[in-house]
Amino acid sequence: MAIVSSGSPQPSQPRLVDPTPVVGEVGAGPGPIAREDGLRPKRLADYIGQSELKQVLAIAVEATRARQEALDHVLLYGPPGLGKTTMALVLAEELGVRCRITSAPALERPRDIVGLLVNLQPHELLFIDEIHRLNRVAEEILYPAMEDCRLDLTVGKGTTARTRSLELPPFTLVGATTKAGALSSPLRDRFGLIQRLEFYGIDDLQAIVERAAGLLQIALEADAALEVARRCRGTPRIANRLLRRVRDVASVRGHGRIGPALVAEALSLHRVDDRGLDASDRRLLTLMLEAYGGGPVGLDTLAAGLGEDSATLEAVVEPYLLQLGFLQRTPRGRLVTLAGRSHLGWPAGAAA
Ligand code: ADE
Repeated sequence: MAIVSSGSPQPSQPRLVDPTPVVGEVGAGPGPIAREDGLRPKRLADYIGQSELKQVLAIAVEATRARQEALDHVLLYGPPGLGKTTMALVLAEELGVRCRITSAPALERPRDIVGLLVNLQPHELLFIDEIHRLNRVAEEILYPAMEDCRLDLTVGKGTTARTRSLELPPFTLVGATTKAGALSSPLRDRFGLIQRLEFYGIDDLQAIVERAAGLLQIALEADAALEVARRCRGTPRIANRLLRRVRDVASVRGHGRIGPALVAEALSLHRVDDRGLDASDRRLLTLMLEAYGGGPVGLDTLAAGLGEDSATLEAVVEPYLLQLGFLQRTPRGRLVTLAGRSHLGWPAGAAA
């Protein structure tokens, strides 16, 4: 494995392996934006992986259809890029209703959430992404809406202010969050179904890549799909993004069929290595090894050395390294593990 010098601090750049959606990918905000759309499974039967989640939701959908009611409110939580928005759209398809998509930061003023609620048709889905970021006023509008299909509006001001109630059609709120713990308990308690999405296993990821390759009409060998699966950090959104970059290289080079060697070449062009680490991950580990003997070293010290802010380092760079077991958080600071050293081609030292 090539060692990349940490060098001087550089500002953070968009990352090919960032699991959060970029503008143009659904989930990046409200509105009909759709780069991922062609690859999204439309029905539960096409949705690969997350078997427990699918089982629970299939039963809920069937029971709901039989009763001709609205589906219970659903909270989906887990890391970004695992298919929360996709699952909301699948649920709507299975129920034969529309799904309105928005995200909490777009619901800044009371009238934003009120406008969405009053325009819902019976049994429709309202998907709110990043629901942990709802402000208190929006949350309080949602409570009676979720519980009793009721919208309580305050009209007038000061001493003349009065509350008027409006009946809403039965609807389903699908909330999505990467931070279930940040949700207030009154809001969390109003969801009938609370489900976690897990990182995908390698077999499911390979199947997802093969399915996407079929839809994009790319002749991708099974071994090549596996190579993409290994590099996508357990995340379908990243897998699909990597696959498009591989397709670019294949079409420029005039390759008809794509084998594993071409995947490796295409992704090393983007500095994504065979375990899905990119330049930012390697800069962090290399800085720790070169300057701090592998740690322990404090997060703020590392952030200063890399020219990143600590929060970005903690939320964006560290989680996958922790998940791979390349990095450890200890009370005395961060530590590169033996596996992390070995991945970067460093001899075993005093690391964990
Ligand atoms: N594309 C992205 N996520 C998927 C999934 N879970 N199943 C099938 N295709 C997908």
